[in-house]
Amino acid sequence: MKYEKIQAPKGVSEYAPPLSAAFEWVRESLIAPAKLAGYQLIELPVFEDTALFSRGVGESTDVVSKEMYTFEDRGGRSITLRPEGTAGVMRAVIENGLDRGQLPVKVWYSGQFFRAERPQAGRYRQFYQVGIEAIGLDDPAIDAEVIAIADQGFKAIGLRNYRLEITSLGDANSRAAHRVDLLKFIAKLNLDEATNSRAAINPLRLFDDKRPEMQAAMQSAPLLLDYLSPESLANFAQVKKYLDQLGISYQVNPRMVRGLDYYTGTTFEFIHEDLGAQSGIGGGGRYDGLMEILGGQSLSGIGFGLGVDRALLAAQAEGVISPDQFTSDLFIIPLGDDQKSLALTLAAQLRGVGIRTEIAFGDRALKGTMKAADKSGSRYVVIIGDDEVASGSVELKRMSDGTITSVKISELQKALIGAL
Ligand code: HAM
Repeated sequence: MKYEKIQAPKGVSEYAPPLSAAFEWVRESLIAPAKLAGYQLIELPVFEDTALFSRGVGESTDVVSKEMYTFEDRGGRSITLRPEGTAGVMRAVIENGLDRGQLPVKVWYSGQFFRAERPQAGRYRQFYQVGIEAIGLDDPAIDAEVIAIADQGFKAIGLRNYRLEITSLGDANSRAAHRVDLLKFIAKLNLDEATNSRAAINPLRLFDDKRPEMQAAMQSAPLLLDYLSPESLANFAQVKKYLDQLGISYQVNPRMVRGLDYYTGTTFEFIHEDLGAQSGIGGGGRYDGLMEILGGQSLSGIGFGLGVDRALLAAQAEGVISPDQFTSDLFIIPLGDDQKSLALTLAAQLRGVGIRTEIAFGDRALKGTMKAADKSGSRYVVIIGDDEVASGSVELKRMSDGTITSVKISELQKALIGAL
């Protein structure tokens, strides 16, 4: 009987060796600056009560209206695979009472997210994000810090061909004043029903409509940035001043619309120049009413999510991938059973002090094993045969240039620590 192969579901991103090393390096580099800034890990479920996203992310968004993986669990509850991280962080902060402790609450996360989008290069149905959230502090300095941390993440992997776009969605008064005029403007356009009902929930969405006729129609629409209250304007000016001071360049894009409805105040997006249609490598902003609509206190917050898959594509496009090219430090080739058990002991000792050690277990001819050693991507190789056991020393071969040094087995650890 011949079984058919089973394939991964359509549109998921996955990383097997050797690409997984580059993926891991990108993911860890992207989030390292957040850890240096005192953000702490939060690990959350990948599925949540559907209401968390429909209420938190917003019914007018594509994410909620078209892209959620929603199903009924065995207890008849409506469950959704998380399409983004912020709503879940809010839920957990409220549920664990973190908002009653020291503020701001500063957390980071990393993991899979799910959106049933049409798959294409850089757009997946399961993708990876790292993100941070800073909750409970309303200060333009933290807005600038959050943006700077994202920027440092991209710089840490060596990206250069990207730009930062920012805008401000202002405070509630600014948005209310703008909304009145924007709705008046939209009422004059001859829109289909679906567009009209999206506009009724969040008229800003129309700026994000990709249809050329809509883009043209929205050219003369009133811009929220022109409606900012004096406080919001001052706040936005301060964020820009801090960014200038940090040497982070940005473009103000008054037409930027983020894909999630919870944003208020400062919002931003990082766009990579070499990625074609799916060029957003990260984005975020302030979400001052989110905690309250999820049943918590009225605390402000700001954060970002960075797309790890897209950052990896960007790093490949720019040719800056530089994870450790060696997958291990030492490759031990034992030539018989006694040598094999010596190799096991040696490897355990070396790994105990952090030296990455592999053993060639196959009983192949020496030539075949040397080939395996070449391919292993190890920095050093030793062969252990009868002679080596009798003399108590081995020949340590450096694979980069073939240099061989004779080393006592008892001193192998010291020699490797010196060499690595
Ligand atoms: P977002 O802009 O929806 O924001 O997603 C953040 C990043 O995730 C995007 O810039 C993109 O790089 C990546 N991404 C999104 N969808 C896909 C996909 N289908 N395939 C591959 N990559 C994708 C958020 O999710 C917010 N929660 C960010 C945030 C945190 N705002 C405040 N705090």
